[in-house]
Amino acid sequence: MLSEALAGNAASIQRFLNEKVSGDTALQQAMRHALSGGKRLRAFLVMEAARIHGVSEERAMYPAAAIEAMHAYSLVHDDLPCMDDDEMRRGEPTVHVKWDEAMAVLVGDALQALAFEFALHPDGAEDAYARAELGRTLAQCAGMQGMVLGQTLDIAAETAEAPLSLEDIIDLQAGKTGALFTWAATAGAVMAGASVQPLCNYARNIGLAFQIQDDVIDVTGKATEVGKAVGKDSAAGKATFVSLLGLDEARKRAAALADNACESIDVYGAKADALKQLAQFIVTREL
Ligand code: IPE
Ligand code: IPE
Ligand code: MG
Ligand code: MG
Ligand code: MG
Repeated sequence: MLSEALAGNAASIQRFLNEKVSGDTALQQAMRHALSGGKRLRAFLVMEAARIHGVSEERAMYPAAAIEAMHAYSLVHDDLPCMDDDEMRRGEPTVHVKWDEAMAVLVGDALQALAFEFALHPDGAEDAYARAELGRTLAQCAGMQGMVLGQTLDIAAETAEAPLSLEDIIDLQAGKTGALFTWAATAGAVMAGASVQPLCNYARNIGLAFQIQDDVIDVTGKATEVGKAVGKDSAAGKATFVSLLGLDEARKRAAALADNACESIDVYGAKADALKQLAQFIVTREL
């Protein structure tokens, strides 16, 4: 069952992260807060794609933790008053609410550094070239061509004079959400020195499907169930699939993308079943 596999994965990742960030400084406490909870979908992608390629769980845990640290940093900064200005994340007060803004900026900085420490760790990818590739591609996916670019476009769209086109929104979301998904889905293949192409195609489709569903949840979800504020995208004038296509069409697009994602990993046969179930989960999830 996918839900059991996801829960097991989330527990192991949480244990690993708590062990690695175990000190008592205020910074470490705030980092643990930011690293707590979450569905751990990106870590699951790393672990499953690693399993498909015969990479051990012990080694795969490092890139899995790396992508969750990078993702957690992106959320801490995303929630800042100068960004989305959110007070609740994963059912808890955001870092700048529980501590202060300076701490939230610094926690994000430290989590990003931690992500690279994990991605480049010798207990992760065995091969030195693979480690270098994990580090280089993580930088690419996180930075000016990836997540940060997407976030920049997202914020700019709030005050844009003309609404974004569908193509613009696809580009925005490919950066904002898609890039980290791509890194997560391909890390196992990189570790094994195998082709990343099927998983790249899979990730492109589920990354977009994931963000469409995030936008749907912002309209349909209840904050107490979702663990973060909802109804904020339209209030902030955000450009989303839902704002452009409406709920029904957005849902249809997400379902079609999930089907495409599944087709792109047919080459792995039954070994890819969990990733296929994940694609369907991503477009039906309610949080
Ligand atoms: C939320 O991501 C932020 C987006 C990229 C849209 P998730 O829905 O994966 O958040 P957690 O990690 O489960 O809290
Ligand atoms: C956040 O997107 C994406 C990143 C942090 C890179 P959103 O702003 O839509 O995420 P939520 O809805 O606050 O989780
Ligand atoms: Mg945002
Ligand atoms: Mg946000
Ligand atoms: Mg959102």
